[in-house]
Amino acid sequence: MSRTDILMTAPMMPIVIETLDKAVTLHRLWEQTDKEAFLKEVGPRIRGVATSTLFGRVDASLLDRLPNVEIVSSFGVGYDNVDAAEAAKRNIVVTNTPGVLDDEVADFTLGLLLATLRKIPQADRYLRDGKWLKASFPLSATLRERKVGIVGLGRIGKAIARRLSGFDVSIAYHGRTQQDDVAYSYYPTVTGLAEACDVLIVITPGGASTRHLIDTDVLKALGPNGVLINVARGTVVDEQALIHALKSGTILSAGLDVYEDEPRVPQELIDLEHVVLLPHIASASVHTRNAMGKLVADNLISWFDGKGPLTPVAETPWRSK
Ligand code: NAP
Ligand code: 8YV
Repeated sequence: MSRTDILMTAPMMPIVIETLDKAVTLHRLWEQTDKEAFLKEVGPRIRGVATSTLFGRVDASLLDRLPNVEIVSSFGVGYDNVDAAEAAKRNIVVTNTPGVLDDEVADFTLGLLLATLRKIPQADRYLRDGKWLKASFPLSATLRERKVGIVGLGRIGKAIARRLSGFDVSIAYHGRTQQDDVAYSYYPTVTGLAEACDVLIVITPGGASTRHLIDTDVLKALGPNGVLINVARGTVVDEQALIHALKSGTILSAGLDVYEDEPRVPQELIDLEHVVLLPHIASASVHTRNAMGKLVADNLISWFDGKGPLTPVAETPWRSK
């Protein structure tokens, strides 16, 4: 019996490649010199795609070349790299990797928040530059007595809130809907949340519905003692408005893990000493990336075993085949 043909768009974790190599015929798109010719020849045989938020989009143009694809399994809980609405129109299942990274990303977010407020990376640079020999590192801002607003109180947002509750700070949140089962104060607008808080942690999905949700008005509302932490997607924050707010003192500082045009980061941000900039690493431990990779492979294997997808995204018109 012939093995199922799966297309991998770019190199993924060894756990994904090794697991799939054992179960299916894996076609490595990134190894092809003439990708168009390859897709023309192999595209009609492809029944599944393994992809990642890191590499290119799975959109109508790629799906047109894969007329028999049944499932797209994407690495990452955010799946703004896949046109899930277009896939749904074609009855294609899309899966992501929710849940297995919540604790890692939440731990990291608290680390980024403290690093930003207490200037931990700057203090490390200060010591290495030999400046401590001449003077003590300047006093920093604090998490004490702050009110923290979480924009997007989903799986990860809740894990962040649980951790924050151990830090004795007030917690509030904004989302499109108020959640009956949580005790944190709800703000129906993000500007209202920013006005009430002096830390904003952004952890929503990316895509059109959240594009530039954090804009000039929100940053003004956050105010001169305000700190913005973005671990969601770069597109959720208007980066030019943020740069202006940081330069003008409209807000105090920012800790960023994500950017509008990754991996390119504006030089104007890099030049700002009071900002902590990290290269999209919130989930990037060996433990958690392996768990995410396993889920990418398991979704494909489960589907082709006739057991359905394990973690289909909301848009997916999944039904038993
Ligand atoms: P989730 O459980 O689906 O939670 C998303 C939350 O965002 C929900 O509470 C939702 O509430 C809110 N939301 C959605 N659209 C919104 C909008 N237009 N305005 C305001 N709030 C909105 O997702 P998750 O698993 O927590 O992951 C969240 C996101 O984090 C991912 O999609 C990804 O972009 C990002 N992420 C980044 C990293 C990283 O490496 N930096 C790692 C993991 C995840 P309502 O539906 O009530 O609006
Ligand atoms: C990964 C992420 O860094 O899960 C997400 O949405 O942004 C991160 O966990 C990313 O998916 C890498 O591909």
